[in-house]
Amino acid sequence: MGYEGKNDVEKSIMSRRSIKKFTSDPVDIDEVIELLNVAKWAPNHKLTQPWRFQLYTGAGKEKFVEAFLASQEQDGALPDKAKNKAAYFRDIPLHLVAIMPEDSRKKRWDEDYAAISAMIQNFQLAAWERGIGMIWRTNDWTHDPVFKNAIDVAPDEKIVGTLMIGYPAHIPKAEERKNIEELLIIINE
Ligand SMILES: Cc1cc2nc3c(=O)[nH]c(=O)nc-3n(C[C@H](O)[C@H](O)[C@H](O)COP(=O)(O)O)c2cc1C
Repeated sequence: MGYEGKNDVEKSIMSRRSIKKFTSDPVDIDEVIELLNVAKWAPNHKLTQPWRFQLYTGAGKEKFVEAFLASQEQDGALPDKAKNKAAYFRDIPLHLVAIMPEDSRKKRWDEDYAAISAMIQNFQLAAWERGIGMIWRTNDWTHDPVFKNAIDVAPDEKIVGTLMIGYPAHIPKAEERKNIEELLIIINE
């Protein structure tokens, strides 16, 4: 694969993968809180700290799953695909919903979205270093007012992602990235 990183930060950035298959081992809530307290040191213009989180664990996961199912109903019925997804979601140890305010000022919105995205990536990397995997998801249903309302996310808030968290049962192979040399213009005179 070529270059594999010179130090722990580089190795972590390059080796982290999005995880879809998890073991049934529980993830400690205090550890998640500790990791979020690390991740909050993301760059953040004006220190708006444009994030809040809802963590679904144990019996609480059913609230997340029910909200998902509510968004999937078609003519009062649930497609099999949605039922299968719900079963998959029930088996995942933790669901963390990352939420930001929808600031009406475009510049502030951009800055907030960038900051929470950096925060989420910090969280993914810090967790990865401890052997905890996750996938950052944004699906149609995470934008659906039915889902948002069912999990008490206000209309003037945005779900930036749902992070499905657990210990990896399978780590997928990395998908190649383009060489930056193809995408970089150096202006030096
Ligand atoms: C904003 C965002 C949304 C994503 N949404 C999904 C998703 O809905 N479903 C999914 O399978 N992966 C999702 N991913 C994960 C990407 O597909 C994944 O990062 C990409 O395939 C590269 O794989 P890697 O993270 O293992 O390097 C999302 C990633 C980001 C940053």
